[in-house]
Amino acid sequence: MIRFSKSATICLVLQTFFIGSRTFDWDPESKTFNQINDKNLTSIPTNIPTDAIVVNLRNNAIQDFTSFPRLDLVTDLTLTYNALTAFPDLTNASASLKYLFLGNNNITQISADLLSSLDQLELLQLSNNRLRNLPDVYIPNLRFLHINGNIMSDIPLLPLLGADVRRLDAGQQAISYVGLESLKAMPHLEFLNMDQAGLMEVPPVMEANPMINYLSLMTNNITAIPDDFFLHNQQLAVLSLEFNRIRSIPDVCLSPISTLMLSGNPITCDEKLLSIKVATEMGKLYVDGVTCSHPTSLQGKPIANVTLQEFRGRSQDYQGSHDVLYKLRGPLYFCDKPNIAEVVPNVNKMMCALLCTRSIHCDGWSYEPDTSRPGYGKCGLVMWGSPSAVDTSTFDVFYGK
Ligand SMILES: *[C@@H]1O[C@H](CO)[C@@H](O)[C@H](O)[C@H]1NC(C)=O
Ligand SMILES: *[C@@H]1O[C@H](CO)[C@@H](O)[C@H](O)[C@H]1NC(C)=O
Ligand SMILES: *[C@@H]1O[C@H](CO)[C@@H](O)[C@H](O)[C@H]1NC(C)=O
Ligand SMILES: *[C@@H]1O[C@H](CO)[C@@H](O)[C@H](O)[C@H]1NC(C)=O
Ligand SMILES: *[C@@H]1O[C@H](CO)[C@@H](O)[C@H](O)[C@H]1NC(C)=O
Repeated sequence: MIRFSKSATICLVLQTFFIGSRTFDWDPESKTFNQINDKNLTSIPTNIPTDAIVVNLRNNAIQDFTSFPRLDLVTDLTLTYNALTAFPDLTNASASLKYLFLGNNNITQISADLLSSLDQLELLQLSNNRLRNLPDVYIPNLRFLHINGNIMSDIPLLPLLGADVRRLDAGQQAISYVGLESLKAMPHLEFLNMDQAGLMEVPPVMEANPMINYLSLMTNNITAIPDDFFLHNQQLAVLSLEFNRIRSIPDVCLSPISTLMLSGNPITCDEKLLSIKVATEMGKLYVDGVTCSHPTSLQGKPIANVTLQEFRGRSQDYQGSHDVLYKLRGPLYFCDKPNIAEVVPNVNKMMCALLCTRSIHCDGWSYEPDTSRPGYGKCGLVMWGSPSAVDTSTFDVFYGK
């Protein structure tokens, strides 16, 4: 045993020595130049081959430089974990540079001219620097913008730079409030990450960004989701809200959402969550293992395990039947069709119903009031997530009393 461990130590020392003596490597096939983890490299190396496509100088001590070699083919440049304080002059790489990684430096300012010279950029990563703002210059194909971990107090207003942005990472800084205009300036935004941004409310992203598909708002200070949240947008698939102070989620029945992350919130398991129950039962929605905080009778129970009866605050067992009237919030609803068991009021006058047969099969239905006949409306099968696709071979519903 002892012998074995001694020889292992020797091996380790030899290997470390070997790596330490190697200052860079060049792969002629992928045309990749790497000189990483070598903390005493303080300037751009002079031996980068002129046909390099990928250059990685991560984790050095490179300071602001005045000259970058002419590289007409380079597409990827990584200068993360260095000692830059200003945006570098990369005009010598501007013909081809697409992916620029400048995270974890100490950059405090960006020259508009230097940035706009990089007109082939698709990805600009500036995470974890000390930026308050960004210059608004037009870069026609900029798709990915990472500005998280800086010292910004709002998302900068970037009608030019943001014109084509699909993904924005802007968390890990004290933003707390996001202006509608800043979001509207990114009309193609599909992915927004604002984790750990001190947000007190949901940014108006559903209103501002019709293409939004993925929204992450983890570890903020959000207490409520607006009632009409899911009605503004028909694209949102993933919503991550872990570790906020949210008690309830508005009706999701007209939303195409497929993943909802809620762990670490003080969720109240009551009838307001019925639409989530319907959606999960239908297999349309995945909800994480969040547990109920209220009422006390359900405390600690994963919401996936809460029954319909429990969500409604009822204890007796219930089987669907056509002649049952249920009073939920609001007036009484009765769909004159066998097996409509629940009609869940929805904020936008559309209703979301749950069809439960005696088997446990559930379907989503929608309800729309008939404005010409007070008290009447239509019920129909909902194509999940598209209110316009309510089946028109519907049937009358009478409500009121
Ligand atoms: C980095 O510094 C160490 C100690 O000063 C030295 O031994 C080593 O050769 C240097 N590495 C390079 C690549 O210059
Ligand atoms: C561009 O490259 C040329 C030739 O390598 C060099 O002389 C010049 O200083 C470089 N300019 C910048 C701004 O890096
Ligand atoms: C950034 O600046 C701070 C304070 O000036 C300094 O402590 C820190 O080491 C710097 N970070 C880097 C990566 O140079
Ligand atoms: C969250 O909000 C509460 C009360 O509004 C406040 O006391 C607390 O400091 C906030 N926390 C953060 C991380 O902003
Ligand atoms: C929740 O339901 C699952 C599957 O039916 C079961 O395995 C699990 O033990 C339940 N958890 C609790 C806390 O009731």
